[in-house]
This record gives sequence, structure tokens and C-alpha cells, in this order.
Amino acid sequence: MCVDIVEAKIKKLQSGRIPIVESGLQDLVAEGVASGRLSFSTSAEDAVTDCEIVFLCVPTPEGADGSADLSYIQAAARALAPVLPPGSIVVNKSTVPVGSTKVVENELSRSDVIVVSNPEFLREGTAIQDFLKPDRIVVGSDDQDAALRVAELYEGVGAPVLVTDPASAETIKYAANAFLATKISYINAIAAICEGVGADIRDVVLGLGYDRRIGNEFLKPGPGWGGSCFPKDTKALVRIAEDAGYDFGLLRGVIAVNEQQFGRVVSKIRKAVGGSLRQKTIGIWGLSFKAGTDDLRDSPAIEICRQLSEEGADLRAFDPTADPGQPELSGIHVVATPLEAAAGADVLAVLTEWDEFRLVDPREVVQVISGRRVVDARNHLDRSQWRVAGFYYQGIGR
Ligand code: UGA
Repeated sequence: MCVDIVEAKIKKLQSGRIPIVESGLQDLVAEGVASGRLSFSTSAEDAVTDCEIVFLCVPTPEGADGSADLSYIQAAARALAPVLPPGSIVVNKSTVPVGSTKVVENELSRSDVIVVSNPEFLREGTAIQDFLKPDRIVVGSDDQDAALRVAELYEGVGAPVLVTDPASAETIKYAANAFLATKISYINAIAAICEGVGADIRDVVLGLGYDRRIGNEFLKPGPGWGGSCFPKDTKALVRIAEDAGYDFGLLRGVIAVNEQQFGRVVSKIRKAVGGSLRQKTIGIWGLSFKAGTDDLRDSPAIEICRQLSEEGADLRAFDPTADPGQPELSGIHVVATPLEAAAGADVLAVLTEWDEFRLVDPREVVQVISGRRVVDARNHLDRSQWRVAGFYYQGIGR
């Protein structure tokens, strides 16, 4: 039984509708509901009365000082404390600062209930696949029996299971996200150098990725990393380090490179329209923080739009999942097709790597756009095809 305090979300799920864009989730939920093994409720009590294991999967947003805000997880633990059956296990899946297993234990104040850390490594948009075929499963507990009971839940998944103490499990999650963010900032920095020295980042990435010590994933240059995890988790890790007496200059550098990257994309767009964005119309392709999701939280596209608009540009944007009513989109004219976004624009900017953008024929764009210029912040389009169609094309690192 899944519980959420947001009634509208639970109502949607009960009526078979999925409140987020996540490939394959609709069918999986329908299958679970039909088999009688999955249900939804707003009552914590209903959910846990006769359960053995409770997963906490609540958000841990960024607090005012950059540290993770634990109020949701504390509130969830408080709600559970009086209704948890004796001997049950509370598994924390939320990304929480090191030491939070203790915070949940204190909040529960139940000596018969064990709290176990079991960080999640799912990516939005590919969460089901990541869940069913994980690279590893991490279980953190000082209680071996409880750790084994949680590890057993994953029997048959076929991934290495690492049992650690709670602090190590919590650290693994932050270290993984910060490392992935580091890889992307690193490649965005190398892309900037490529532009200066006349190299092509795509070849550089190939040459790096074949080295198995480096690997070829998370080396795609782009408009910077965003979403609901990397920005808050990198900042939280800087704070955790600070509290632990270590100045994490490397990670602060990674965050700074990312913030610069938004500005670098804005500069490319400004340069494409001759040096000033005032009263220029920018066609935007893509608003979500990456393709395959409708999530706008900390989306690089939204930050880039904000900076463009601050410099006086008018924005016409298309994203296959954007709902124009979302507060993040105020000031952006959201249209229904990629061609409508390009219509009358002085420059087109590709900010999210949706497959369908590759299918648009640049010869059709030429018919509707004002200026034949495209800034492809994801190196997503076929550069030669767009150049042949008469476009000034500017990518990242090439
Ligand atoms: C990330 C991690 O990848 C998951 O393992 C983790 O479980 C999750 O955070 C979390 O903490 O919950 P997610 O935020 O869904 O998952 O997104 P990613 O696919 O990691 O992408 C993050 C950002 O990096 C996006 O803006 C994406 O466009 C960008 N990115 C990613 C690049 O610019 N280049 C790349 O090569 C890869």
C-alpha cells in the first residue's frame, strides 16, 4: 500500500492515472492494482497496521542554508510511530544527510523498531528499468538481521548487495550523485576548451570513454545538470563536508562550473542574434531538466529562459510534457508544436534532448523562422543537415 499526504495524487492513482511522466509506470501500476497487490491511501495507519516493512520515500528538499530539509521525513516518522506493529522495520529511501537514520530512530522513539538505510539510485524517466536492473543494492544497518530481511526483498534482482553501517550507506548515495555531477561538469569544462582550441567534444568523449577506468556514461556535454537531485545533493554534500570539518573545494568548483554553463548557453544565444537579446524572439525546444520526464525542478532550460528574459528577450517554447499552467513557466509563451515555437523566432535554442526534435526537418523550420540560427545546447540535432538547410549552427564543444 502506497501512502501520500497529497490527496489529489492518491485520487489520481486510485483512478488509474499516473501523476508523473514515467515510461512504463502506467502498465506496471495497472497490473499491480488488477492483481490486488497494490493499492493507494492517504492514511498512514491503514498502510502499516499489519505490515512488516515500511519504506520512507518522502522528499528532502534544499533548506535555506543549502542543507537538506528533514521536516517531511520527521513528520512521516512521527505519523508512523504510534501505529507501527511491534518488530517492524522502517527503511529510509529518501536522500538524507549522514546520520539521519538516527534522526528517524529518535523521531520514532520505538526500541522495538529498527531503522535501515537503503538509498535509491533510480533516474527519473528510466526508474523502472533502474529498479529492476540495478548496478548494486546498498543496505545500511547496525542490525544484521534487519539488514538481511531488507536485502531479501531484492532476491532475484541479480545485483550485488552491499551491507554497510548506516552512515556509509547514506554517504554512498551523496558520493555517487556528486561524482556523476562532477563527470558532467568536467566534460562541460573540456567542451569549453574544445571550442577554444578547435577540437570536437564528440571525438574527445569517445576517446575518453573507451578507457574503462573512465567509462563512457555521464559524459554528454549540455546546458548543465539539473533536476530534483544533483543540485540539492551536491549543495547538501558541501554542507555535510563543512560540518565534518572538510572544505570540499572540488565539489564547490563542480557546482560553479555548472552555474557558468547556463551563462555560456545564454552567451551563445546572445551572440547568435548579434550581441543583444533585447526584443529578440527566442524559440525554445525543451523545458524539462532532461528528456523522458515532465520535471521542471531546477531545470537548466528554465534557468536559461530566466536569464534570456531578464535581458529582454521574448520566449516561445515547446516541450512535449509542459503544462503551461506551471508556475515555473510564467513569462514563457508555451506553444503546442516545435514549429510553432520556431515561428517568427530570431534564433532557435535546443535545451532538452527530446527525440522528436531530431525528426523535425530543418527545411520546414526555414519556412517559419525569422533568423536562420540554431543554438543546440545538447548537440542533439544533425549539424550538417541544419547547415545544408542554411542555418548558422552552434553546438557545445564543437
Ligand atoms: C540522478 C541519478 O542519476 C540517480 O542515480 C539518482 O537516484 C537520482 O539522481 C536521485 O538522487 O534520486 P536524475 O536526477 O533522474 O537521477 O537525473 P540524471 O539522469 O542523473 O540527470 C541529471 C542531470 O544531468 C540532467 O539535467 C541531465 O540532462 C544531465 N546530464 C546527465 C548531462 O548533462 N550529461 C550526461 O551525460 C548525463
